[in-house]
Amino acid sequence: MDEAALKRALAEIKTVKDEQALTRIKINYLGKRGLVTKLIDSLGNLDISQRAKVGQLANTAKKQLETALNDAFTELRHSKLQKETTLKTLDLTVPIATGIGHLHPLTTIMQELINLFWQMGYEVVQGPEVEDQWHNFEALNIAPNHPARDMQDTFYLENDNFLPRTHTSSVQIRYMNRHKPPIRIIAPGKVYRNEDEDAKHVWMFQQVEGLVVDEHITLADLKGTLLAMAQGILGKQTKIRLRPSFFPYTEPSVEVDATCVTCGGQGCQTCSHSGWIELLGAGMVHSRVFENVGIDSRRYNGFAFGIGLERLAVIKYQIPDIRELWRPNLKFLEQF
Ligand code: PHE
Repeated sequence: MDEAALKRALAEIKTVKDEQALTRIKINYLGKRGLVTKLIDSLGNLDISQRAKVGQLANTAKKQLETALNDAFTELRHSKLQKETTLKTLDLTVPIATGIGHLHPLTTIMQELINLFWQMGYEVVQGPEVEDQWHNFEALNIAPNHPARDMQDTFYLENDNFLPRTHTSSVQIRYMNRHKPPIRIIAPGKVYRNEDEDAKHVWMFQQVEGLVVDEHITLADLKGTLLAMAQGILGKQTKIRLRPSFFPYTEPSVEVDATCVTCGGQGCQTCSHSGWIELLGAGMVHSRVFENVGIDSRRYNGFAFGIGLERLAVIKYQIPDIRELWRPNLKFLEQF
């Protein structure tokens, strides 16, 4: 046993990866008949001159080997333990318990609406979000100089015959072009308006368009339908009222109000103390619209309405800022 042998032993300890091999090294050097033990035992037989030097080497060797072996043992046990615990804690079958999500309020209210109208026998149809001027305006009797066409309200695409639709009423036209009465459809979808955003306005929102065409359809049918809708979404106690209004594609046109959800019609801050909240626009289909799509307006009539989904959500859930509905704000959304 000399210094070179000691170095070799120390290096070996570092590379060994299992406890048995380490134990073998320990016995070889420090065991009863180990090399270092033998060296120490032999000191008595040595010359005085040699004894000090060999004694010192034996002592250093013993100490260094002991420390190295201890370290190596600890290290091995530690990593073994770590492997075991990670394997045990990584149980892929454990359900993730960090809170389960739910539907967005807009999705919920859209599903409720679709369900309601589906029960009343309506078909759900869709149209394109990019429209041409004819479907979005002309066919709906909106003249070129009508304020609704103003650049302030409408986004135009580079080819200005096309635009992101400003309402879902364009789907009325698309549907009537291809289907003969009786017609009973709703058309949900996104619409775009070139407007500044505030607590009451967003530049992209959703509408649910409704269209019914048949013989003998009256304003009372419209009123009954919208009452069923309002009560279905806002509660059985809800009442509605119709006020005269104007849309180029309906005649007569109405604005429909519902009793205020916050005060039940008593009058409060939400409804500016009137007891009523504006819900949507509607009316009886204008004869000129029927002419534009080739439906005989002497035989058929119909009603149409356009529900603003965000508006309905704001009313139903009493949300103070409509923009929250399009923000990824979990604190807000988790309330629903
Ligand atoms: N298109 C109208 C709007 O965007 C709503 C509406 C639809 C009015 C159908 C009458 C008939 O506000």
